[in-house]
Amino acid sequence: MSTLRIAVVPGDGIGVEVIGEATRVLDAVAAVSGQRVTLAPFDWGAEKYLETGIALPPGSLDMLQESFDAILLGAMGDPRVPDNRHAADILLGLRFRLDLYVNYRPIKLLHEKLCPLKGMGPEDVDFVVFRENTEGLYVMMGGHHKKGTPDEVATEIDLNTRKGVERIVRHAFEWARGHGRTKVVMADKSNVLIHAHDLWQRVFKAVAAEFPEIQASHLYVDNLALQLVRDPRQFQVIVTSNMFGDIVTDLAAGLQGGLGMAASANLHPGRIGLFEPVHGSSPALAGQNRANPLGAILTAGLLLDHLGWTEEAERIESAVRWAVENDCTTADIGGTLGTREVGDAIVARLRA
Ligand code: IPM
Ligand code: MG
Repeated sequence: MSTLRIAVVPGDGIGVEVIGEATRVLDAVAAVSGQRVTLAPFDWGAEKYLETGIALPPGSLDMLQESFDAILLGAMGDPRVPDNRHAADILLGLRFRLDLYVNYRPIKLLHEKLCPLKGMGPEDVDFVVFRENTEGLYVMMGGHHKKGTPDEVATEIDLNTRKGVERIVRHAFEWARGHGRTKVVMADKSNVLIHAHDLWQRVFKAVAAEFPEIQASHLYVDNLALQLVRDPRQFQVIVTSNMFGDIVTDLAAGLQGGLGMAASANLHPGRIGLFEPVHGSSPALAGQNRANPLGAILTAGLLLDHLGWTEEAERIESAVRWAVENDCTTADIGGTLGTREVGDAIVARLRA
């Protein structure tokens, strides 16, 4: 019997509800397969930040790396913290300070009824997006000049390093090779961002040359958005920058049933990973038992898969597919159940 130690950070809003269901599913799948998971909750989020001024307590990074195999996070964001300072410190802080440079977002349609595109089924929407996760427009470098005056100037720096671009591009190719995929598309805006995305162009070509069996191609990101909607069958692996990856993965989530269905992992091979559903804290839905827990549950599956519990991960995915097929779902994807009841159905299915 093996034991996985998981740090659980539900966070804000619906994060608390969906992670509640995801952890019940983790317990159930471990019990069924005679394994063990230990789940250690951390109350980092808006509430704690408002009370104490602390977002991510000192020493957290070392503690997480020493004592846990993975981190499962719900969502960060609360209207009482208008600048979302705590979210930046916790979510972006973990991504940056643990150097989790791979944002892995699989896009997998589980049933044709979840896709807004006509005639598209599970075999048509099945690709992954690798989003650079530690640089780009997310580094919060920049500033204001003459703030609050009519002459105000604001800048935001798009930071791209050769090392940063190269490692995410290489990761995308290696993943493709390791998973029997034959095509990698890089999306940028090198027709306008003639410095930063020229670097992406050069690095992509150089790395692609090391993977001759993989068909490497390029799309401007605006065209990528169009092509994803026009015909998602074209795509197997997409690699792109931090901000473009953020935008493209919301669009891609739409192809698999919306944000409530989308899972993601923040990774640095060989280090602890941070797993989070793609959706946010959705304050308007919070506390009403209405949020779709399937994205969080699929994220728990990603976590297990990443740590080598492949069979358990498959069980979770097939239980989720069963829930979708049988409309044991929340209203956002056509069901009539509450968050908790969807969790109940999945847990019962796993135990059956
Ligand atoms: C995501 C989210 C985050 C991001 C926000 C909450 C900072 O949109 O994980 O996609 O922009 O990365
Ligand atoms: Mg996003």
